[in-house]
Amino acid sequence: MSVVVLISGRGSNLQAILDAGIPVAAVISNVAGAGGLAIAAARGIPTHVVKHGDYPTREAFEEVLAAEVDRYAPRLVAHAGFMRIVTAGYVKRYAGRMLNIHPSLLPSFTGLKTHERALAAGVKVHGCTVHFVTAELDAGPVVLQAAVPVLANDTVESLSKRVLRQEHVVYPRAIRWFLEGRLVIDNGRVSVKGGDAQISYSDLP
Ligand code: GRF
Repeated sequence: MSVVVLISGRGSNLQAILDAGIPVAAVISNVAGAGGLAIAAARGIPTHVVKHGDYPTREAFEEVLAAEVDRYAPRLVAHAGFMRIVTAGYVKRYAGRMLNIHPSLLPSFTGLKTHERALAAGVKVHGCTVHFVTAELDAGPVVLQAAVPVLANDTVESLSKRVLRQEHVVYPRAIRWFLEGRLVIDNGRVSVKGGDAQISYSDLP
């Protein structure tokens, strides 16, 4: 039933996952001192750091990373603010059992600085997406999306805060669905056995 969570930073999504009672076997970061490591350690969850800069190639880094992941034989690998682009080889290893949360309504705004770009584009709805990880960046099958309004006076800070609050709602939900064996991928589309809503809306500021 266990999950290994990969992080690079503050770890607020990790915190939400833990608060939701998801069984996390270990937390691995590619950045030493990432805030999420302390969150995990405080709960007695094993942590590991695999610094990408210590390896000459992406593949060499991923070999060591995967070895750490595989020690726990997790059912699911959850990327939660894990800021590394992964290779097709790595993705293949965890095909169908690796999730990511991305701070936009995919396929809009893949990559970085999503909130800044959403504001610049003048979109009126923004949000976040939980998706399966595939070899193409931020493009795997969509499990669940949360939509929030973009307000006229929004800043990157206010908008990212509104989205992040929803990330903390939808990521644990999607992980739970996965662990319950309720996610079905058919032709690149994901459905949930039982028919739970795969979209969530929030008007909170
Ligand atoms: C989140 O916005 C996540 O969607 C993005 O990076 C951020 C990580 O935040 N990929 P945290 O480390 O979970 O607080």
